[in-house]
Amino acid sequence: MDKPKVVLGVSGGIAAYKACELLRRLTESGHDVRVVPTASALHFVGAATWSALSGNPVSTEVWDDVHEVPHVRIGQHADLVVVAPATADTLARAAHGLADDLLTNTLLTARCPVVFAPAMHTEMWEHPATRENVATLRRRGAVVIEPAVGRLTGADTGKGRLPDPGEIFEVCRRVLARGVTRPDLAGRHVVVSAGGTREPLDPVRFLGNRSSGKQGYALARTAAARGARVTLIAADTALPDPAGVDLVRVGTAVELREAVLGAAADADAVVMAAAVADFRPAVYATGKIKKKDGQEPEPVALVRNPDILAELSGDRPRAGQVIVGFAAETDDVLANGRAKLKRKGCDLLVVNEVGERKTFGADESEAVVLGADGSETPVAHGPKEVLAETVWDLVAERLG
Ligand SMILES: Cc1cc2nc3c(=O)[nH]c(=O)nc-3n(C[C@H](O)[C@H](O)[C@H](O)COP(=O)(O)O)c2cc1C
Repeated sequence: MDKPKVVLGVSGGIAAYKACELLRRLTESGHDVRVVPTASALHFVGAATWSALSGNPVSTEVWDDVHEVPHVRIGQHADLVVVAPATADTLARAAHGLADDLLTNTLLTARCPVVFAPAMHTEMWEHPATRENVATLRRRGAVVIEPAVGRLTGADTGKGRLPDPGEIFEVCRRVLARGVTRPDLAGRHVVVSAGGTREPLDPVRFLGNRSSGKQGYALARTAAARGARVTLIAADTALPDPAGVDLVRVGTAVELREAVLGAAADADAVVMAAAVADFRPAVYATGKIKKKDGQEPEPVALVRNPDILAELSGDRPRAGQVIVGFAAETDDVLANGRAKLKRKGCDLLVVNEVGERKTFGADESEAVVLGADGSETPVAHGPKEVLAETVWDLVAERLG
């Protein structure tokens, strides 16, 4: 089988060096990559590097190798075009359909999925001109990954950093696998909760659970690759930040509730994949609880935490919003799942069996997605990403 053909457009931002790592990941995972840098990009990383790493010729102008008509052919034959980093200038030229170099010609002739990974100073990213250009590109079907927040070129920090190349690679892999030029969640805002809450007993101890956050992160990554604006509300997890999502970190169930309800106000869908503690210690000891000689410890009294899923489902912040819950059951899995779906009033409930070595912390899971309309969608044992794609398929169907 032919290797999938990827065009890696590189524009003239300081983060161009990070595209070398993205290029490596793409070639090492079996893609045939043609790098098309802009003339400005070559000020940051030279043509020799792109050519040696990709094993393909590199040019920036339409006037090289004219007999092969590269300004048309490169785009026509691509299975994916990814521009990383995408400067404010390149986004503007792409949005306005300019064709003044090889990269913009390629973008006009490509009929495959296109991903932009912008990187620039916060002021440039927030400028109304850039906002409008990004909105135009998204409306036309491109996946524009939200930049990360962090250190920028100088000493300053803010939104505008190129996400980790490994995370951009993950978006490319997912977009390429779906192969659609119009992502079905484009223009949608989705909220995903992930990880396990921690309920403090004292300043050093907490009640927690075994959730790793992998399922929630897989949901956030797949939604971003399907074009959604994603708010990821993350309770405890050690996972790297996914590219292109707005990440909000929380600790307790009460904090998670506040963050989810706040983000849900304008969301099209909310997926509650976090393992939210049902109970928390009734009393928080402000000093560390000490052992006392010859005395047994005091029992820990618990109180109920708010039921966020039931609250969201009963009082939807927005009409037509799709609410998805997760049920982790240890026995009588389906019967308990059906009862929970009714009790909570959500649209979809992903029911999976959990145990010490099942689902929690694992890379794979197996589940049945129950619908309030009576539907049952089994998802065979496999990567959490597959379950995530199925959840978004069902959400997209319900959003129409
Ligand atoms: C040191 C330096 C760093 C730059 N970094 C960025 C950047 O991160 N993002 C951006 O949009 N422009 C950046 N620019 C400005 C672009 O290089 C400039 O707009 C150029 O015209 C972009 O051309 P291109 O889009 O064809 O690559 C930088 C310029 C310099 C000199």
